[in-house]
Amino acid sequence: MSKLPKKDLLGIKNLSATEILTLLEMAKAEKPKIKNPQLRDDSLKNVSLATLFYENSTRTKLSFLLAGDYLGAITNDLNISTSSVAKGETLIDTGLTLDSMGINIIVIRHSMAGSAQLLAENVSAAVVNGGDGSNEHPTQALLDLFTMWEHKNSFANLKVAILGDIANSRVARSNIFGLTKLGANVTLAGPPTLVSQNMASLGVTVTNNITEAIADADFIMGLRVQLERQKAATFPSLAEYAHFWGLTKEHLQHAKPDAIIMHPGPVNRGVELSTELIDGDRSVIYPQVENGVAIRMAVLKYLALANIGNIGAKKDYVIKFL
Ligand code: CP
Repeated sequence: MSKLPKKDLLGIKNLSATEILTLLEMAKAEKPKIKNPQLRDDSLKNVSLATLFYENSTRTKLSFLLAGDYLGAITNDLNISTSSVAKGETLIDTGLTLDSMGINIIVIRHSMAGSAQLLAENVSAAVVNGGDGSNEHPTQALLDLFTMWEHKNSFANLKVAILGDIANSRVARSNIFGLTKLGANVTLAGPPTLVSQNMASLGVTVTNNITEAIADADFIMGLRVQLERQKAATFPSLAEYAHFWGLTKEHLQHAKPDAIIMHPGPVNRGVELSTELIDGDRSVIYPQVENGVAIRMAVLKYLALANIGNIGAKKDYVIKFL
């Protein structure tokens, strides 16, 4: 049996392959509860969860709240714009305030890399990183890994091409950590201003040629161009980005016939992926969203075990996967 879960989920970098696979197995067990309300339960009854999002979100925030609801937890979103953060309250003071109210799990998204760790070091609640700057987005990577695992059942010798704005992408970083730990081969591709040869030190192949990147790929992951994180112009315009770096159906003649198209969302239609690909039969973009709820159910249960002393989670559930 492996060690019990950690107090927090801050990134994929610090998870072992066993811990990742445990979370995937747990998500598989939880997934039927999403579409079948009769299967939902109260295994996290009395566990309280708060989302604390300093940056916008549709998928991550709502799926954590739904994951908690489907397992009987008490869930609340702290709307940052109407909270006392707008009066100048600090991140740590906000976290301590949530601690004082009896919140057991805080899911945070913040533009500063390291913000989730800072919070985790200062509160007794379990902290989940819902995205910290360009650093990590662990639950996005877990749902991406889960989606790949559903299709291929193994990561050994899988080839995954990740395309686009790698430099600013916490999704890319978390996926790189996860995929390389699990034995997959990762190729990064995009404009030289956003994909540097230095990234090869992460154990991946780097190219500035999309066709080369997708050759023989099992999965092709497009990434959103993150204009909000770019401090200087890294390409002339979105139209030029789409022309030179956007993935289209024509590119796919160079990929495996069964290559699967992924994207974490939100997608800039016609920029990183053509609409035809987004809505096409090789796309799993909406199944990724569904899997995001399953993964977040698994993560909440996993952390509930680590915090068993102060929350009423059912220990046996997680133990059987370890
Ligand atoms: N993929 C992702 O993090 O989406 P949201 O920004 O909508 O949460």
